[in-house]
Amino acid sequence: MPVREPLFQRVAIIGLGLIGGSLASAIRKNNLAREVVGVDQRKEDLLLGQSLGVIDTVAETTAEAVRGADLIVLAVPVQATRKVLEEIRPHLAADAILTDVGSTKSGFVKDVEAVFGEFSPRVIPGHPIAGSERSGIRAANPDLFSNHKVILTPPDNVSAPHLERLQALWEACGATVLTMSVAYHDEVLAATSHLPHLIAFSLVDTLAGEDENMDIFRYAAGGFRDFTRIAASDPVMWHDIFLSNRDAVLRVIDHFTQDLDQLRTAIADQDGATLLRVFGRAKAAREHFSKMLSGQAYVTNNSENQVTFRLQPGGSVNGDIRVPGDKSISHRSIMLGALAEGITEVKGFLEGEDSLATLQAFRDMGVAIEGPDNGFVRIHGVGMNGLQAPRGPIYLGNSGTGMRLFAGLLAAQPFASELTGDTSLSGRPMNRVADPLRAMGAVIDTAEGGRPPLKIHGTQDKKLTGIHYDMPVASAQVKSCLLLAGLYADGTTSVTEPAPTRDHTERMLAGFGYKVEREGPTASVKGGGKLKAGVIDVPADISSAAFFMVAASIAPNSDLLLRHVGMNPTRVGVINILRQMGANIEVMAEREIGGEPVADLRVRSAELKGIDIPVDQVPLAIDEFPVLFIAAVCATGRTVLTGAEELRVKESDRIQVMADGLATLGVETTVTEDGIIIEGGQTIKGGSVYSHDDHRIAMSFAVASLRATEEIEINGCAVVATSFPGFVELAKETGIQISAEGAEGGAEQGAH
Ligand code: S3P
Repeated sequence: MPVREPLFQRVAIIGLGLIGGSLASAIRKNNLAREVVGVDQRKEDLLLGQSLGVIDTVAETTAEAVRGADLIVLAVPVQATRKVLEEIRPHLAADAILTDVGSTKSGFVKDVEAVFGEFSPRVIPGHPIAGSERSGIRAANPDLFSNHKVILTPPDNVSAPHLERLQALWEACGATVLTMSVAYHDEVLAATSHLPHLIAFSLVDTLAGEDENMDIFRYAAGGFRDFTRIAASDPVMWHDIFLSNRDAVLRVIDHFTQDLDQLRTAIADQDGATLLRVFGRAKAAREHFSKMLSGQAYVTNNSENQVTFRLQPGGSVNGDIRVPGDKSISHRSIMLGALAEGITEVKGFLEGEDSLATLQAFRDMGVAIEGPDNGFVRIHGVGMNGLQAPRGPIYLGNSGTGMRLFAGLLAAQPFASELTGDTSLSGRPMNRVADPLRAMGAVIDTAEGGRPPLKIHGTQDKKLTGIHYDMPVASAQVKSCLLLAGLYADGTTSVTEPAPTRDHTERMLAGFGYKVEREGPTASVKGGGKLKAGVIDVPADISSAAFFMVAASIAPNSDLLLRHVGMNPTRVGVINILRQMGANIEVMAEREIGGEPVADLRVRSAELKGIDIPVDQVPLAIDEFPVLFIAAVCATGRTVLTGAEELRVKESDRIQVMADGLATLGVETTVTEDGIIIEGGQTIKGGSVYSHDDHRIAMSFAVASLRATEEIEINGCAVVATSFPGFVELAKETGIQISAEGAEGGAEQGAH
């Protein structure tokens, strides 16, 4: 077998503390260098390092250590950096990479510039975000970096092969490597690491100074212990960090002091509303961050958070229910509410992960939002130009709608922003919005193939220009994106759709007093207007109701009432198609609420028959096809879908994924490029299917159980919480024999 060449010949580690020692032993353990040489002022530690097997070779001086080394890692206290750089400079090999592991980066860069006269392309500052309350060589641990992040802050002119090698080294130690600028690193760390350490040190010190400190510590509960764990960290190191990241730390301390003062005043004034608002916002942010930090909002690869649905075959569907609020309208209610002048109150808001991500994004841009509390949200609008630059990337989880609508809104803001999402969203096409936005003058970078993340440069006050856009695909997301950008653009922005798509944006803009012209298939807005806050009553989501419409249609002896369902004519394709198939759907109590038509629907069992689905209904039922396929399987005769290639770029390739799942359940279908052919009347057997982390696929197979002959297991169901929190309880209530196993919360989270 060929022996793999190690990444480096000779790695010199200067400073054998916890981090230097751990990196040395990780390099040795993973065979990443022929030789690891260590040097440290503390001779005992150095010898200990050798006897513990942390390093191969001991060097007497820094000069001796770096001679012939192709990687030099400075792991000395930040304050000692300059002296060490001066010592090693004359001895560095021309091609050697120089890096460090310090917690602040601008100080290191300053030292490098002072000693080298410039920030050389082979110097790549680094910062592993890993540590322990233990310090010193005895605590060295080769696995310290595994599943941790390492931030590199390379100079603009960095030598790419050098960067790649250093990155490969950290990755081989188990770390995930991120790159960012020096200034950004120091800002972020000041807020997320340095300030919490400062507060922990200070709090413990304050309490330790109280007379009754013995008692305080004796009675200290878990919260105190958790919160102050980091006050046991190395004082010398932290003293260095605060002095070297002075400016960024002072900025966050000031910010925090103001906020603390505000809480003090609220307590003094018995101002419960402020306390609730701040705590509520913090709680929501904390929950959102945990998802973000796990890197998988909707827990796609996170086995701990997986939810499996198990369904017993058969049953009938009865009752009187209201499904959660409309997802499209919920997103838009927050967006327009935030941009309006005044307070917007929203009722029936969907507390699903997608719309919550939108809500969090506006909080990140400085908008005060109360709730959601049982679907009630109060948004303190900041006006068209009141958004503040977010401090980091905006994370939109699974939400394609969120990303595409935000792209339009943020492309028109003066500040830069970045939009990211989970694994599914990161694979979805964004050029459909980025291209027309660029034509308006926006500057947007995408990842390869036009995928997220989207880096939006911001207009820096140079306005976008209105355009006319003929959409190549019928997409409400693209239309809405451009109309939102158009609110800020010079002149008129108009969008023509090849087929009618949902018009919630247009209706809601009009509801907020913003004029939208409509001429046949073209909607247009003039830039420069204002939005007036209002009241929004979000109807139940017809896309969520669709699962129950099909359920009650295919299950014998069913009679179900669905309350307050949104009946916007651009959304009722599912009712038109089901009725054409012979479904018994009675539309009752039709009314208009807040600019959107609403009705109650009574659905009873029916003998369905297969049809050729009219192409003009496709955009009007675009999200309902997975469950319509289940209806088609239960119908007599053939159902043919064409003109639905868009289904292939939804949260999953919904044509293929449904065909695969159906095949597992013994149902044969014919997949075509833009649709599917389903012969009705086939027996749905049991089996184990996978949602491909697509909420609508998971719920569709749950509905299929009503006509199955054996148990169906559906894997990957945590994602159901994106659009339908409480699905399991509601389905159970109507008679679907469903149970959910897996993470607490997950799909059932947010149940009413
Ligand atoms: C949506 C538009 C549709 C739909 C999505 C929500 C919206 O997408 O599939 O679930 O809220 O605008 P496209 O407009 O891209 O088809």
